[in-house]
Amino acid sequence: SVLILDFGSQVTQLIARRVREAGVYSEIVPFAKGGEAYDRLAPRAVILSGSPASVTDADSPRIPENILAADVPILGICYGEQVLCAQTGGAVGPSGHREFGRADIEIVDDCAFFDGVWKKGDKPHVWMSHGDRIDAIPAGFRPVAVSAGAPFAAIANDTTRRYGVQFHPEVYHTPDGARLLANFVLNVAGMAPTWTMAGFRAAKIAEIRAQVGTERVLCGLSGGVDSSVAALLIHEAIGDQLTCVFVDHGLLRAGEAEQVVTMFREHYHIPLVHVDASDAFMAGLAGVTDPEKKRKFIGGAFIDVFEAEAKKIGGARFLAQGTLYPDVIESVSFTGGPSVTIKSHHNVGGLPARMNMALVEPLRELFKDEVRRLGVELGLPPAFVGRHPFPGPGLAIRIPGEVTKEACDTLRKADAIYLEEIHKAGLYDEIWQAFAVLLPVRTVGVMGDGRTYDKVCGLRAVTSVDGMTADVYPFESAFLSRCATRIVNEVPGINRVVYDYTSKPPGTIEWE
Ligand code: XMP
Repeated sequence: SVLILDFGSQVTQLIARRVREAGVYSEIVPFAKGGEAYDRLAPRAVILSGSPASVTDADSPRIPENILAADVPILGICYGEQVLCAQTGGAVGPSGHREFGRADIEIVDDCAFFDGVWKKGDKPHVWMSHGDRIDAIPAGFRPVAVSAGAPFAAIANDTTRRYGVQFHPEVYHTPDGARLLANFVLNVAGMAPTWTMAGFRAAKIAEIRAQVGTERVLCGLSGGVDSSVAALLIHEAIGDQLTCVFVDHGLLRAGEAEQVVTMFREHYHIPLVHVDASDAFMAGLAGVTDPEKKRKFIGGAFIDVFEAEAKKIGGARFLAQGTLYPDVIESVSFTGGPSVTIKSHHNVGGLPARMNMALVEPLRELFKDEVRRLGVELGLPPAFVGRHPFPGPGLAIRIPGEVTKEACDTLRKADAIYLEEIHKAGLYDEIWQAFAVLLPVRTVGVMGDGRTYDKVCGLRAVTSVDGMTADVYPFESAFLSRCATRIVNEVPGINRVVYDYTSKPPGTIEWE
């Protein structure tokens, strides 16, 4: 495996993704726990991430000594290069020339890290983001690339197989970056590309069987890709020891409950308990307008239903969840304290403790795109695997103000029209997430000589890689006009449609 030491860069996760795309398993560990992780994992290579910190600050992060003492290939990226220099005999100081964004470098010498990708004389584009610069490199290293602001844009020591780059090979905007990282793990470190979805599937099935034995497992299905893939994998491992519970809280999209139930029962023959709890959820949401109160109520109500269903089938020792890697990575924070809660994400987190259950989380090591590939590997239809994410609290957080059954029905109609138009235009797969929201605001309109006084529907569509940041999808105005016309004409109760033009940050994807 490859050990990635996180020094707090915003893009550390991308390093792990690139390494895995090359077919090699990688784990991200906060730098302070790197020494222990190195002994535990015995990795065949180490990659040092970037950081918002400065090597010239007294308390800035350092590479654990056991890693520096080991005979293991190391690649330092940005801060990683600087700290590698600072700790092994080089010198780093503030730069008069800061480089941010796209930069051109020149390859001044060949090295094993560039092999097959760049050679002496090449002038590739890269993406830089640094203030400090290296003034002197450690003994044994030589400069292999230069830029206007960095005489040591890349340094190499082919004997110890240690390299440093001032630019970020992990980001999309360094076009040859993925090939460089692949070359580092496959050729410099000599690892075999054995991390495949077929291999992962087989290994996980064995692991689940060993963990669960003959006990029962409960899985809460949301209809989303993650919990569905987790359920299929576990079912393949332990068959009917798995019971899936699908809670319909009345906050689902049009046709969603039917699709999930049909797929699991008829297509996969997986026993599925379908609970229609919409009355209880609607009753509890009556009068609630505060977004956090909505989220907390829904989370709690979900656990109540789940617990009641679990009792009916005689209980279970294990609870399955579709937790993904981004949720479990302990990232390094330089904000000086615990991060602020923007939104309480809904999950079944309270249940295991309340019912004394252990967790089965077979997707803990995967990124979303890997889960999608695993879904395909397990035979899920591509259309299902490619579905846009849908939040646990469902339509409740797309109806600012009070959530009523009538408002949910109105929103379902508008949302279905919007998605139908997106599919018809062939845009669904280009968009990370698209949905309609229903505002409590009423405005005046005119339809067929008559005055209307109805609600506003907001449309949202974003592109994103992981939901952490997002850009607005730039529809053509004819497309938006078509959606607006259809929604106002076909959905009673809506007489105005607006498009949300806010990126994340400063907006969030959902409205609540
Ligand atoms: P925000 O609104 O925070 O959303 O920008 C980022 C992504 O997370 C989804 N989301 C949720 N998913 N439970 C979930 O399972 C939740 O409570 C929840 N809240 C937001 C949102 O749809 C988007 O994809």
